[in-house]
Amino acid sequence: MGDHALLILLSVASLSLLPGAMPLQPSQAWSLFKLRQLLGDPPVLGTWRNYTDFCYGGDYKTASAFVECYEDSVTQLHIMGEPGARPLPTTFSIDAFFTTLSRLPDLKVLTLTNLGLWGPLPGGKISRLQKLEIVNVSSNYLYGELPRGLSQLGSLQTLVADHNMLGGKLPGWLKDMPLLAVLSLRNNTLQGTLPESLKDMPSLRSLVLASNNLSGNLPELSNLQVIDMANNALGPKFPRLGRKVASVVLAGNKFSDGLPADMLASCYLLERLDVSGNRFVGPFPAALLSLPSMEYLSIAGNRFTGRLSGNASCGENLRFVDLSSNLLTGSLPGCLLAAPGKTVLFSANCLSTGDDSQSQHPSPFCRNQALAVGIVPEQGRKKSGAKAGVVAVIVLVGALVVSAAVVFVVRKARLPKARPARRLVEHASSAYPSNLLADARYISQTVKLGALGIPAYRSFSLVELEAATDNFQVSSLMGQDAHGQMYRGRLSNGTPVTIRSLKVNKSQSFTRHIEMISKLRHRHLVSALGHCFQYNLDDSTVTHLYLVFEYVHNGNLRGRISQGTEGRKLSWGQRISTAIGVAKGIQFLHGGIIPGLFANNLKITNILMDQNQVPKIGSYNIPILSETMKSEGGAGSKYPPDRICRVPNGDKIDMYDFGVILLEVISGRPISSLYEVEMMKEQLQSALTAQGPSKRSNLVDPAVSKACSDDSMRTVMEICLRCLAKEPTQRPSVEDVLWNLQFAAQVQDDSRSSEESPLSPSQPHAQSAHD
Ligand SMILES: *[C@@H]1O[C@H](CO)[C@@H](O)[C@H](O)[C@H]1NC(C)=O
Ligand SMILES: *[C@@H]1O[C@H](CO)[C@@H](O)[C@H](O)[C@H]1NC(C)=O
Ligand SMILES: *[C@@H]1O[C@H](CO)[C@@H](O)[C@H](O)[C@H]1NC(C)=O
Ligand SMILES: *[C@@H]1O[C@H](CO)[C@@H](O)[C@H](O)[C@H]1NC(C)=O
Ligand SMILES: *[C@@H]1O[C@H](CO)[C@@H](O)[C@H](O)[C@H]1NC(C)=O
Repeated sequence: MGDHALLILLSVASLSLLPGAMPLQPSQAWSLFKLRQLLGDPPVLGTWRNYTDFCYGGDYKTASAFVECYEDSVTQLHIMGEPGARPLPTTFSIDAFFTTLSRLPDLKVLTLTNLGLWGPLPGGKISRLQKLEIVNVSSNYLYGELPRGLSQLGSLQTLVADHNMLGGKLPGWLKDMPLLAVLSLRNNTLQGTLPESLKDMPSLRSLVLASNNLSGNLPELSNLQVIDMANNALGPKFPRLGRKVASVVLAGNKFSDGLPADMLASCYLLERLDVSGNRFVGPFPAALLSLPSMEYLSIAGNRFTGRLSGNASCGENLRFVDLSSNLLTGSLPGCLLAAPGKTVLFSANCLSTGDDSQSQHPSPFCRNQALAVGIVPEQGRKKSGAKAGVVAVIVLVGALVVSAAVVFVVRKARLPKARPARRLVEHASSAYPSNLLADARYISQTVKLGALGIPAYRSFSLVELEAATDNFQVSSLMGQDAHGQMYRGRLSNGTPVTIRSLKVNKSQSFTRHIEMISKLRHRHLVSALGHCFQYNLDDSTVTHLYLVFEYVHNGNLRGRISQGTEGRKLSWGQRISTAIGVAKGIQFLHGGIIPGLFANNLKITNILMDQNQVPKIGSYNIPILSETMKSEGGAGSKYPPDRICRVPNGDKIDMYDFGVILLEVISGRPISSLYEVEMMKEQLQSALTAQGPSKRSNLVDPAVSKACSDDSMRTVMEICLRCLAKEPTQRPSVEDVLWNLQFAAQVQDDSRSSEESPLSPSQPHAQSAHD
């Protein structure tokens, strides 16, 4: 602690005056000034003066224009002009612009939006930017086809070029970009059908091609999590989707075949489905309402038929439902009426409802319309023959006129409404790290961030951290390990935080780590809030790095499972939803950030619970920690530092650790040795093959076993065993785990016996406490 106190004497003021460890290479600074000139000295770059030291902070940085460096080279360039920028003058040359950009050879992240750039993208020049990972060139005037040169960008993960005038067909060579995860070309002029090769892109997670002029059927899209194809001319067949899909927007197309109820019923991760404004006919699968993750469902403006039943059930996450302008009969499910905070629209159907504000057609209307589009209602199916045929034809003529009018009116009425689809973009605030966050691979995860309510990531001053910890008083010290100390503190606005102090080696460089740490924010992680560097006054090297995290203070998961210290143990249903939360955290660590974090040494005691009982993964494999270890010659990490992200089967190591956590969740007994794991595995194995449920329920924590459905128990046990497979390649993927847990939650829910209320405290169980 002694040298600590000494180093902390440095004030922030002196820090910001220190020269950067390395100034930007002069040739790169020149390139940046040249770019400014080619852009016609836009106001957004008014702070770039000829003495700007681009790599070392300073006042030239604004939220709309900034540069990040790694050592003496630019790795990120962000220039965001004002919305509505006019095209640059005819003297502008896109070739010259990209030639100049290619003099920044280490560029990884590039944002050039609302700058009036015009012309065809020059493929040859772009292909020289070999390190590009994330590109956003939205809201310019780029035209022509996507150039083949793009396919040579082997590291490209995100390409966003919304609101341009790019045309032609979506090229088949996109499949040659092995890492491409996010492709967004909203509001361009793409035409024709989509290439079949889209199904061969294993990394692709998010495909946004809304508001183009695409037609034909979609290829199989089984890897995708986010699909937005709104406002094209696609159809008639609904695409094949995978089980991992989270958001599907197909509004305003020409889909007309029915919805594949069986396929959609297995989409347990589906949060948003919007098929409004198409030509769908056939029965509306009411089971969509009860999908466990579903939040937003719109089928408005189609010809869905079917009799709704008042007792149909709804998923608990559902908050927006639009059934308007279809041919539905029966009564509105009670679960849609009851809840406040839910938006439910259902006008212009033939439902019987007590709500006059959403007017309905008389029921013969729906019947006739259904006949007109060739759907014979159940009861009428047997009456075939010439007579029915004549009736149908007569009705058809009349109904077509009516339906054309209805569709027209409905469309007009719907247009001005703000569609909640905007939400995806809104949460990406303009603060520095959020720009990166908005690009994160799994856009749907970022959606959740907004609801998190955690403050934006930022850099802290040492003074702030001193104030927060009472000058790093011993009383604030929470613990200490080979990496450094951990303190508890409270920011001036009252936010409680955990501060990790890391002593660092002179030769280390942090920029790329900070970039990644700033992305470690998720509902199910103890999230990063910021960092602070401490410099040595003599040679201006970094001596300490402080990482600021959320402080989660409601105990760990073991305390709610095997040690019922608070006298409250989680019910079976709560255990499953907690496990789902942990799995979602793991999914984010693996796939929600780039590069993913693997081999996180997950333990039940590191799963922290917040005041709302939301589980958060409390420690994970931050690369900077493993490097600090190396430089200190410390032991502890099982894997070679620096390559830690590439541990073979690193993801499967986490699945094993998750399996051990599940074992404890199931059995309610603390599991702390490999021996215990092996014992439990054998017991699970034989319980799973046993005939009746009794052998299984004997293995489950007696505090909850009475209220478990056998299907639910069996599903959790099976996935637990698979996670614990000896051979890493035999272990399931995190998506597979999530799917099964969601399933287990669903069957438990369906069969929930009256004995278990989700909030009822169960008896405290005396258990030996050891870790
Ligand atoms: C910086 O710019 C000013 C005017 O904008 C000019 O007079 C001066 O020579 C420039 N300095 C260098 C080092 O280029
Ligand atoms: C579509 O892009 C054009 C520019 O190409 C822009 O002017 C227009 O506002 C965009 N439309 C929407 C709905 O965003
Ligand atoms: C859309 O594509 C079709 C052909 O597929 C063409 O006839 C139509 O003019 C296009 N519309 C626009 C607005 O480009
Ligand atoms: C709903 O109630 C009807 C009788 O009114 C019954 O036939 C049907 O099985 C019930 N459905 C569900 C899901 O409970
Ligand atoms: C791309 O840039 C625009 C304008 O700065 C921004 O609104 C949008 O969120 C960015 N898109 C992504 C996916 O980062």
